[in-house]
Amino acid sequence: MEELFFRFVVLALVAAHVCFAAPTTYKVGVGIADVTGPAADINMMGYANPAQLSAGIHTRQYSRAFIVDDGAKRVVFVSVDCALMDQVIKTEVSNRLEIKYPGNYTAKNVVLSGTHTHSGPGGYLQYVLFLVTSKGWIQQSFDALVDGILLSIDRAHDNMIPANIYYAKDTLIDANINRSPASYLNNPAYERAKYTYNTDKDMVQLKFVSTDGQPMGVINWYAVHCTSMNNTNPYISSDNKGYAGLLFEGAINGLEVMPGEVRIFSLIYLGPFVAAFASSNLGDVSPNTMGAKCIDTGLPCDFVSSSCNNRTQLCIAFGPGKDMVDSTRIIGDKQFQKAWSMYNVDDSELEALEGPVQFAHQFVDMPNYTVEVQDPVNGPTTEKLCKPAMGYSFAAGTTDGPGAFDFTQGATSSNDFWNLVGSALVEPSEEVKQCQHPKPVLLSTGEISWPYDWHPNIVETQILRIGQFMIAAVPGEFTTMAGRRLRDALNSEATNNGGPSNVKTVIAGLSNGYTHYITTFEEYQIQRYEGASTIYGPHTHAAYLDQYKKLTRSIFKNEPLDDGPTPPFLLDKQISIVRGVVFDRPAFEHEFGDCLVQPYPFVRPNETVTATFVAGHPRNNLMLENTFMTVEVKEANNWKVIRTDAHFDTFFFWERTSAVGQSEAHLRWIVPADTPDGEYRISHYGHYKNIDASIVPYNGTTQSFNVSWIRKIVALSSLTTLNGIDF
Ligand SMILES: *[C@@H]1O[C@H](CO)[C@@H](O)[C@H](O)[C@H]1NC(C)=O
Ligand SMILES: *[C@@H]1O[C@H](CO)[C@@H](O)[C@H](O)[C@H]1NC(C)=O
Ligand SMILES: *[C@@H]1O[C@H](CO)[C@@H](O)[C@H](O)[C@H]1NC(C)=O
Ligand SMILES: *[C@@H]1O[C@H](CO)[C@@H](O)[C@H](O)[C@H]1NC(C)=O
Ligand SMILES: *[C@@H]1O[C@H](CO)[C@@H](O)[C@H](O)[C@H]1NC(C)=O
Ligand SMILES: *[C@@H]1O[C@H](CO)[C@@H](O)[C@H](O)[C@H]1NC(C)=O
Ligand SMILES: *[C@@H]1O[C@H](CO)[C@@H](O)[C@H](O)[C@H]1NC(C)=O
Repeated sequence: MEELFFRFVVLALVAAHVCFAAPTTYKVGVGIADVTGPAADINMMGYANPAQLSAGIHTRQYSRAFIVDDGAKRVVFVSVDCALMDQVIKTEVSNRLEIKYPGNYTAKNVVLSGTHTHSGPGGYLQYVLFLVTSKGWIQQSFDALVDGILLSIDRAHDNMIPANIYYAKDTLIDANINRSPASYLNNPAYERAKYTYNTDKDMVQLKFVSTDGQPMGVINWYAVHCTSMNNTNPYISSDNKGYAGLLFEGAINGLEVMPGEVRIFSLIYLGPFVAAFASSNLGDVSPNTMGAKCIDTGLPCDFVSSSCNNRTQLCIAFGPGKDMVDSTRIIGDKQFQKAWSMYNVDDSELEALEGPVQFAHQFVDMPNYTVEVQDPVNGPTTEKLCKPAMGYSFAAGTTDGPGAFDFTQGATSSNDFWNLVGSALVEPSEEVKQCQHPKPVLLSTGEISWPYDWHPNIVETQILRIGQFMIAAVPGEFTTMAGRRLRDALNSEATNNGGPSNVKTVIAGLSNGYTHYITTFEEYQIQRYEGASTIYGPHTHAAYLDQYKKLTRSIFKNEPLDDGPTPPFLLDKQISIVRGVVFDRPAFEHEFGDCLVQPYPFVRPNETVTATFVAGHPRNNLMLENTFMTVEVKEANNWKVIRTDAHFDTFFFWERTSAVGQSEAHLRWIVPADTPDGEYRISHYGHYKNIDASIVPYNGTTQSFNVSWIRKIVALSSLTTLNGIDF
């Protein structure tokens, strides 16, 4: 019996050994830093809804960096809680890295990928079209991102240690749906028949473990939009992927561990374990899993156009939660649970990455790209891509956020930036119309260069390789099928050019620069939002397939590529129209930091505590790696911070209360069910601006309140407010 068992174990070990080669030891560094943008008055990047301005913080935005070095080469992958990465950020970050770490980091071995949260402040992109709803350039958004990305890379660089990397893949079924099934259905039937679902359900994860057994971090890729928070949300939020990252980091680091540069408090989520939930081919993939319906009638929307009575504004997708915060929680938690279960598989049962670190990178002039495509009627033909242009359905938006900005009408006279640049709009030329056919061209952005370029022509294409794992960093949003074709093509190209037979490619979406969507040729014919936003015309996807195959060959045949044309760097051309803070003034007979509305002195778990303070404008100081609020518990006569504005159960809301510079901070804490009985208080921190432009810190604290399941009765007349049961 024992001998049989012994033989079984030996066989199992041999089998395991046969399956998985010995792990390569790399040098790995991980780092995280705060990149939260201005928390008031700035348009959120993503939905192009001019009315969606930031007014507080639900969760903070972070940059999460991972460096892998094999002794000869190194690569850096950075996942950033922002809508999308832009050329101007990539260029600025690369330039500063080259100065600080000559020879180590360049544009070629650093990938910056946005998570695609639609609840981060905008105004940090260099081309005109991306700045219309933010009313131009926002320097604070740009600085917060660039400084924080660099800080996260610094931290990763400073803690590089020998480590192994393990690969895992599993399926997560119920956290995404296809929001453009009518387009998907235009892909060939034989191709669709290869797949069970019309979105990718795979989650792919890399697990980083130091050779002495310390968990260091994970990166995973799962295709879903970060649009659980909808286009009415005023809170900065890292949406479902950001929340999943906080859950994972909290599970390993504990909520109260806080290395990194800690300015005031010992509690902000900053490592040492870093968990990045990164974006992938999410182009047609929504987290709103209850699907779209007509909000006036409750009936299904028109299948092809996603409209109700010809109005796209009425066709909106919801769920799975009771409101958008609940949906963010559910979709984030599902991603976390899946990643966590994959993480907790013993390393010996996971496939280790094995082999060298390499990278390939090239700038490409997309409108000039020619590519051979198979025409079903005419056989192979050579096609040239088009100057960028947006189709009509772009203005309609999607079921995750119907279009709110009418470009054809000039939309609003209150948008000074549009009043300035909108006059440059031109009728599309015959060449553009024919090239983009069947797209009806709404904005011929490639034909306008006043006051500077409206859209990119030159884009970055890039692949990182770690052993048998390839990260294809793409400058936009590939749809499900567009991504499947790319992954398959690159896996074959790698194997056919001397790469390992177990090579696997993952798509890192929204990397380095932004060119909107990339659909398949067949999906393009339907001209829904994603096709209308495939800016270089019907053969855009074919060109990327061709280009990324070229990058793959360059890696596995070890053949260097030329750099390609240099993209423009438009930082000094930017136009800022949004005014800065003029000055702040406290409410009559009050000081900044005065608590205007105290919390009810008793609260039960599951209830919400609220407090209101006299505030200064959040743009006076972004409080990076810091916080606009804390919750503290009294322990042995000391106050200990247990929450900041970065936590999912706290909300910092900022409200202007008069035209003469008065404002209030409304703080909320939804007391978790497992909160221990005790005495608690809430504080607000900020800065106000004097008439003489000096910026002064202030803070204020509530009276204490007691958390307990047993609510004592107090005279209501002595209270200014009651804690709500829910919000
Ligand atoms: C890259 O960084 C490492 C570690 O800091 C350093 O030892 C090395 O000299 C750097 N390489 C170059 C080419 O600067
Ligand atoms: C929707 O618009 C199309 C084309 O403009 C028109 O033919 C159709 O009658 C409209 N449908 C409704 C329900 O208004
Ligand atoms: C956004 O979500 C809220 C619930 O949190 C809902 O009341 C509202 O209708 C949604 N709005 C849109 C445009 O989806
Ligand atoms: C693209 O092609 C046009 C026309 O041939 C040429 O004028 C232009 O310089 C090219 N652009 C680049 C970046 O090579
Ligand atoms: C508190 O909330 C948790 C989680 O939502 C729930 O399971 C529990 O029943 C709630 N308890 C009370 C007393 O409401
Ligand atoms: C709060 O304000 C007081 C008084 O200005 C100051 O002494 C204290 O350092 C501030 N606390 C924090 C955490 O900023
Ligand atoms: C809150 O609890 C503390 C410790 O149990 C107690 O000393 C204090 O009186 C309580 N506060 C109120 C307002 O009941």
